[in-house]
Amino acid sequence: MSHIVIQGGRRLEGALAVQGAKNSVLPILAATILHPGRSVLLGCPHLSDVEASIRILRHLGCKAGWEGEALTVDASSLDRWDIPDHLMREMRSSVVFLGAILARMGWAELSHPGGCELGPRPIDLHLSALRQLGALMREESGCMRCSAQHMAGREIVLSMPSVGATENAILAACGAQGETILVNAAREPEITDLQNFLCGMGCQVRGAGSSTVCIQGRRPTHDSTYAVMPDRIVAATYLSAVAAAGGEVELHRVSHRHLSTVTAALHAAGCQISGGEGQVVLCSTGQLHSVGTIRTAPYPGFPTDAQAILMAALLRAKGATVFVENIFENRYRHVDELCRMGADISVADRVAVVTGVPALFGAKVRCTDLRGGAALMVAGLAAGGETLIDDIFHIQRGYEDPVRDLRALGAEIRLE
Ligand code: EPZ
Repeated sequence: MSHIVIQGGRRLEGALAVQGAKNSVLPILAATILHPGRSVLLGCPHLSDVEASIRILRHLGCKAGWEGEALTVDASSLDRWDIPDHLMREMRSSVVFLGAILARMGWAELSHPGGCELGPRPIDLHLSALRQLGALMREESGCMRCSAQHMAGREIVLSMPSVGATENAILAACGAQGETILVNAAREPEITDLQNFLCGMGCQVRGAGSSTVCIQGRRPTHDSTYAVMPDRIVAATYLSAVAAAGGEVELHRVSHRHLSTVTAALHAAGCQISGGEGQVVLCSTGQLHSVGTIRTAPYPGFPTDAQAILMAALLRAKGATVFVENIFENRYRHVDELCRMGADISVADRVAVVTGVPALFGAKVRCTDLRGGAALMVAGLAAGGETLIDDIFHIQRGYEDPVRDLRALGAEIRLE
């Protein structure tokens, strides 16, 4: 099993273009089955989660694969509506295929996606939204059998702005007769990216990015080509790495607005942040200070996916920073691994208090989940000595080539 080895303590400097967004391309790949034809996606990252989605599309009967740097899907040959257990278990977010399969086929059969490293991952909000559209569902021994022969558009209210439930509801509503109004929708930028892709394919969706999304179902669709948005969490990761290690980075293909809560925190910690359209520049001495309290929240609040990453950047900051994780139940599993590197972090339920230490030291650590693994890379770059990171398959779910990217900034990092 390969691992990442970092010789930390080096100043980082350079420029990077940020990869396409994992959390945008996954629902968009599900959306491609709404059109019985060809969809071409540009700027898709080469990730294990993307390969898992391609396997699901092929299982359903679609042609899907890479043509150079373009990821193409031809869903004209789609002839199945089931996703078997082994494919569902590969990637928890495969539940987002449910709405699209129901919209296209009128039937769906999926095993329950189950939990993951972040704790139980319920899908009650997904199922509630689909039932409100008229889908009938039976759960039998971990398998969900759904029929939606005559979905009709109507007002659907989500009890909380779940990203996945919003995506599933939008995709299912594209197959419902008439207009669907989705109330209390998630406002993440990836929802807007999904809307833009759907509209480019002929669907009629508007309001994404706000709490109310309107979908006119059963619109004629056509072949399309779409460039996926850049990954704001990968951008946050590289900004945090330079903030922690000290140096200067110019990131291209980023949106200031999508990163505003993260750059505000890094600025408060003592980094200089600037940049123009589509780029962010960060300078850091590496001597940061604490930033008070960071509370994760649905967009446009501080992203839960950047919690571990910012925490890693602040491990040597002067003073104490309090993190409150309001989105997931179990999102501090990276803390024990960071403490092996000399961090001073105490956790009680959803609160973690990070007290800055004078120095971190390299250690043998293990990824606990995707963003926890990213946090170990950030800490390793700021630590003295060698850090060896195991179980990097977690990182490979969301980062195309972090060794390539961090090397471009002058990091002494290798894959072994
Ligand atoms: C998406 O997960 C992202 N994944 C997550 O990114 C991200 O952390 C999360 O949104 C929040 O921004 C993808 O887009 C593939 P939610 P999702 O539904 O859709 C509870 C990463 O690191 N909930 O907004 O699963 C749920 O348990 C990943 O890239 C219900 O209770 O997030 C959680 O506590 C991790 N019932 C909270 O809502 C439901 O039916 C937010 O979940 C659905 C969710």
